Amino acid sequence: MKLLPDPEMMRQLRGRSLLAPDDLTKAEFLFLVHLAKDLRAAKRENREVQLLSGRNIALIFEKVSTRTRSAFEVGAHDQGAHVTYFGPGDSHLGFGESAKDAARVLGRMFDGIEHRGFRHDVVATLAQYAGVPVWNGLSDSWHPTQMLADVLTMKDHVDKKVSELTVCFLGDTQNNTAQSLLVTGALLGMDVRLIGPASRAPEESVRHRAHRLAALSGGSVSVSDDTGLVRGADILYTDVWVSMGETTDKWQERITQMIPYQINKALVVATNNPAVKVMHCLPALHDVATELGRQMHAAYGVTALEITDDVFESPASLVFDQAENRLHTIKALMVATVTNPCVSS
Ligand code: CP
Ligand code: NVA
Repeated sequence: MKLLPDPEMMRQLRGRSLLAPDDLTKAEFLFLVHLAKDLRAAKRENREVQLLSGRNIALIFEKVSTRTRSAFEVGAHDQGAHVTYFGPGDSHLGFGESAKDAARVLGRMFDGIEHRGFRHDVVATLAQYAGVPVWNGLSDSWHPTQMLADVLTMKDHVDKKVSELTVCFLGDTQNNTAQSLLVTGALLGMDVRLIGPASRAPEESVRHRAHRLAALSGGSVSVSDDTGLVRGADILYTDVWVSMGETTDKWQERITQMIPYQINKALVVATNNPAVKVMHCLPALHDVATELGRQMHAAYGVTALEITDDVFESPASLVFDQAENRLHTIKALMVATVTNPCVSS
């Protein structure tokens, strides 16, 4: 069996959970991104080696998913592992069984557990008691697996070191993706700017965490309501204005607050960077091809929300590469953290 790159790093990551982006050091984060790139090349060249044969992975989704579920299922299958999927309401977790009890049951049967849920303390409790790696597939606070894919995508498309990147997130800067981007950028030494209404600024504790990390990495972080800060950006990034788990009555207020932060042609021009790239974790409300998009149009007269269709469909848009990279990075995470005889000492 071909030895994986950097066996020492593989040993260091074995058995580890990922709840928030900064559970990893900068070196570990970039190692996983590099491993994902290798696994992507191996799959494309039809020379992938299965390192998870005989392993069992639990996928618990208390919210819906297209990309994250697909990435865990296809990634596990490509690597020879078996998955068990629990959709919203499919297990006792959260209603008749505590996270602490469920963790101790699932940890005796599975080699790794993915969890997508609401309050972050649920996934944290699973990780504390499962005895096997637990991966946060999105909580109300964090979306760390998304960040691995995003950094791989940035490295693929911008010819700069990650520590030289200027990344601007626009819109709901308090959501899981925005907070994750702030902390990831700070960890990796980027210049990361969160731009949106002050009423939706990231939690104070998250801002402090990002400032502490940036002080160590040499990066810089800022949170502002000034769209002028997009000048010089390498990347513009956005996400939905109302996240899963939030009530639909938030839409009207959010549209009024967030419309100045929509990624549209004028905002792209305001970067003054003809090579600027645009990212979105998806799903995106960029047209009226969805039921939600049509409801927003009927209620508020808008045909696009956080990103306009022309920008979404433009050559600057990296959104589908980003989506594909969920597979390769989640696969790398599983390969590195699930105990594996191929890399045992
Ligand atoms: N970006 C993301 O997490 O997508 P899904 O909700 O489809 O998993
Ligand atoms: N902020 C979004 C991300 C979806 C991938 C949500 O939580 O719904």
